[in-house]
Amino acid sequence: MRINMFITVYGCVYLASHHLAYTLTSWSLRQNFKGHVAHVETRPAPRKGVAFDVLIKIDILREPLLNLLKSLRQGSAIASVNLLSEHHSSIKEAWFPKHISELDMCNHLMTKFEPDLDMDHPGFADKEYRARRKEIADIAFTYRYGDPIPRVAYQQEEIDTWGAVFKELERLIPTHACRQYREVWEILKRDCGYTPDQIPQLEDVSKFMKRRTGFTLRPAAGLLTARDFLASLAFRVFQCTQYIRHHSSPHHSPEPDAIHELLGHAPLLAEPAFAQFSQELGLASLGASDHEIEKFATMYWFTVEFGLCRESGDVRAWGAGLLSSFGELAHALSDKPSKKDFDPAITSVQPYQDQDYQDLYFIADTVEDAQEKFRRWTFQTMSRPYEVRYEPHSQSVQTLDSVHKLEDLTSSLTSEIQRLNNAVRKMKF
Ligand SMILES: [Fe+2]
Repeated sequence: MRINMFITVYGCVYLASHHLAYTLTSWSLRQNFKGHVAHVETRPAPRKGVAFDVLIKIDILREPLLNLLKSLRQGSAIASVNLLSEHHSSIKEAWFPKHISELDMCNHLMTKFEPDLDMDHPGFADKEYRARRKEIADIAFTYRYGDPIPRVAYQQEEIDTWGAVFKELERLIPTHACRQYREVWEILKRDCGYTPDQIPQLEDVSKFMKRRTGFTLRPAAGLLTARDFLASLAFRVFQCTQYIRHHSSPHHSPEPDAIHELLGHAPLLAEPAFAQFSQELGLASLGASDHEIEKFATMYWFTVEFGLCRESGDVRAWGAGLLSSFGELAHALSDKPSKKDFDPAITSVQPYQDQDYQDLYFIADTVEDAQEKFRRWTFQTMSRPYEVRYEPHSQSVQTLDSVHKLEDLTSSLTSEIQRLNNAVRKMKF
């Protein structure tokens, strides 16, 4: 049975490096211990007489590991060797991005609803449309982390399609959209070029969102796999299509398009509570089993895409699929469909179809309430043997699976609690 192990090696860096460099080189580990180094971290040691702490993650069998530990402990320059934890690889660990730049590898598409393949797609018989859609979608294939999102010179027909949806939705927003959406909508019109006469550029909307919640956009070529899409949310990144739906069907698109993203998703990703909920869904998905990913995708469907909430005795929409579809928005708030209270255990396994209006919607009391219920449910049910945390300064995700990381988190939380206490004290006097 193979195991992943964390060990820490304390030692004088100069002398230790020679010994460690030999013992832990790929060649030596492979030849002598049948293992390999998966991760190395060094930092100045807090103890006098010891230069550095070294944290090493090794993929190795148990017996060679014991031999390796013995060999390392014989090194005269090494102060101590400690085994921090073991993870048995019989619990198969799914790869997930640890740094925001690794989202460059999270762009796997689903071959569903594409105009080239789906006969029911409104653009299936329109060669010119398919070529134009492909031209814009291709931007996503060459996009890399850190690039500005290339601007698209939208054609008049595309702008007219955007304008038709924009005008219809704007009539319904005051009576059908939740308060948070209505508030950001006004700011988008004022500060971010939201008008019926032009399609906002992803780069501009991304900068707007970043200032408000830290969320950014990156271009996507179409409908992504749930695992890749959810993983990006963990980094406050929203993978966003840039092409426009077919002009013959302005109020419905079988696949995500820029109208759905910019009218449905962008306003709420620029709202702190919704941004936090989206990120927590993403963080929960990292390292999840396929079965759990399916549940998270279903949860996403009934909340971020088609969620309803209560507001001053009324029901309002907060789902992007509703807030970008004039017809379904009116349908969802009518008496026709069924409605249930949001409950993660029920919502996450509710079957749904994606071809027509939904016949069931879930209502949350507030987004904060939905988030709290979701958080409790994931903590109780997720199978991964570790917790993860987003570190905004380095835009990376940490697995909280070592004493050092827990100490760092404790220190950071202690500092925040002290700041909170101080703020409360200052407000009292
Ligand atoms: Fe969506």
